[in-house]
Amino acid sequence: MPRPYGNLQLLILLAIVKFNICKSVSIGRTTMQKHKILAIDDEQAVIDTIKEALIYEDYEIISANDGEQGLQLYSIHQPILVILDLKMPKMTGLEFLERLKLTPLDPGIIVLTGHGSSDEIEKCFNNGINAFMKKPFNFYELVGLVRNIISLKSAMLLLHNQKLKSLGMITAGIAHDFNNILMGIMGYIELAMYDCPANSSIRHNLENALTNTKRAADLTKQILTYTGNRKSIVTALNLNQFVTENTQILKSSISQKSVLNFNLSSNLPNIMADMSQIQEVLINLTINAAEAIGEDTGTITIRTGVQTCDDAYLKSCCLDEKPSPGLFVYLEVSDTGCGMDQETQKLIFDPFFTTKFIGRGLGMSAIYGIIKGHKGAICIDSAINIGTTIRILFPVSNNSASGDT
Ligand SMILES: Nc1ncnc2c1ncn2[C@@H]1O[C@H](COP(=O)(O)OP(=O)(O)OP(=O)(O)O)[C@@H](O)[C@H]1O
Ligand SMILES: [Mg+2]
Repeated sequence: MPRPYGNLQLLILLAIVKFNICKSVSIGRTTMQKHKILAIDDEQAVIDTIKEALIYEDYEIISANDGEQGLQLYSIHQPILVILDLKMPKMTGLEFLERLKLTPLDPGIIVLTGHGSSDEIEKCFNNGINAFMKKPFNFYELVGLVRNIISLKSAMLLLHNQKLKSLGMITAGIAHDFNNILMGIMGYIELAMYDCPANSSIRHNLENALTNTKRAADLTKQILTYTGNRKSIVTALNLNQFVTENTQILKSSISQKSVLNFNLSSNLPNIMADMSQIQEVLINLTINAAEAIGEDTGTITIRTGVQTCDDAYLKSCCLDEKPSPGLFVYLEVSDTGCGMDQETQKLIFDPFFTTKFIGRGLGMSAIYGIIKGHKGAICIDSAINIGTTIRILFPVSNNSASGDT
């Protein structure tokens, strides 16, 4: 494709604009990370041209030659912008967009096509794309569009993160004060119980009041965990021993139709963890597994093991802040239950997201907060009607000497 300007002119122009744009684009990411752009086109020549047009920009460009591969790279890399072709083998651009179900906080999309009909383009806009360009495209138009969309998305994400942060602070403050009030109420109930004869109906009512107040206190604890404001007591913990000690609690939390299996790997290094928080993780995962099996018969398997994780594997995990690659100890709960579709998997860590009538939707969000606090990672593998495997990875620290016998 001919370039409309000479290389030197292009370099000077881009250097000037880049200085201004970089300031706004760098918001919403750490200074070390480049914004990622995913280019999806079955013609390698088009991808090469996109790379050439953006050569002086500070972006990391990832490419895919069909929609299916694009979708995989999209979930691994979480780009801020996708440049998408419409006519592609395996999965068209439109199918790709329909699978993503974009929201305003998702990446920006520029559709780049040579033959798209106006009907198709209208459908693309209805599916949330930001801009459309016809091939062959002008380098400067593409650069300008890319910069504008990235700075818009960065600003939106920054605003959203700030809002979440403020909301987290308000929620943690309320939960903390509320918890203190509940402690007072529980104290007074216990005092009142002393003055009641053992078999009086007042004592029975007070016991019920105490149980419900404890439940409310547990709820505030979960909120504090999610917002990262719960105090933790970190000690060296051997997961095998810990799982074995909790077998009885786990068995009593699941229905009799589910079979509980253990597959605990020997020579497991210790992890540095808060025992009560890890118990919460294990119980929540096991209850979810049992609830996914429901009234049917099924199997829940709890596994432990050691795994070396590289960057690519950790990128596929669910936590926003990925731990550094290295050696991890894992705790995994898998079930043969109903499984989850992609849409549900995206939402399970959102506080109050639930698909259960009686559920509260706080279990997985508490797990998220706990694992974030332990600098670990969460990997989910789930398929409808087949089951779910949730693997929690804990970094092996230098002072976590082997605790296995
Ligand atoms: N093992 C699983 N199999 C299938 N779906 C699951 C599994 N684990 C979690 N989910 C889905 O994620 C949702 C959120 O889970 P989460 O534990 O946060 O809340 P909940 O179980 O609905 O309520 P609770 O607050 O009582 O735990 C569930 O409602 C369910 O749809
Ligand atoms: Mg749950």
